[in-house]
Amino acid sequence: MKNIIICGFMGSGKTTLAKGLSEALGMPLIDTDEEIVKRQGRAISEIFATDGEAYFRHLETELIKELSEKEGYIISLGGGLAANEANHPYLKAAGTLILLDCGIEETLRRISGDKTRPLTAGGKEDIIARYNYRKPIYESVADIVIDSASSPKKTLALALEFL
Ligand code: S3P
Repeated sequence: MKNIIICGFMGSGKTTLAKGLSEALGMPLIDTDEEIVKRQGRAISEIFATDGEAYFRHLETELIKELSEKEGYIISLGGGLAANEANHPYLKAAGTLILLDCGIEETLRRISGDKTRPLTAGGKEDIIARYNYRKPIYESVADIVIDSASSPKKTLALALEFL
């Protein structure tokens, strides 16, 4: 069985769905943000602050290249990974891609003012612009788009139904 990959914007519920799928299907979970933090031994905000966003994107590409050769994992992606078209061939090779989208209003409710994510520092207008820019790029690589605006339980049920 190839991997099941969860992508989407910050706050779309990727980590929660990935945990639910991992439990329901008995498949091990890899979270790209967590994996990068573990390997680097420092927080994402620290990587951005010290080495810049481009370096973080390079780490993401190296990781997805590596993961595309594995099988049988639930892979939860950091929000920018599927927004980078250079990663699309690796994502396609890695398995089935589920895109979560909870809409811009709900996104803002969930992530505005979040201090742990470096890309929320630009405020509401910046988040809206980034969301709008990324949406078609995410959609171009996804096998299915699931509305994740309601409960995590509903999102999990929709994902299992599709799979
Ligand atoms: C990012 C999303 C974050 C993390 C980093 C950059 C992005 O992951 O990878 O802060 O570019 O959207 P989450 O989507 O899990 O918050």
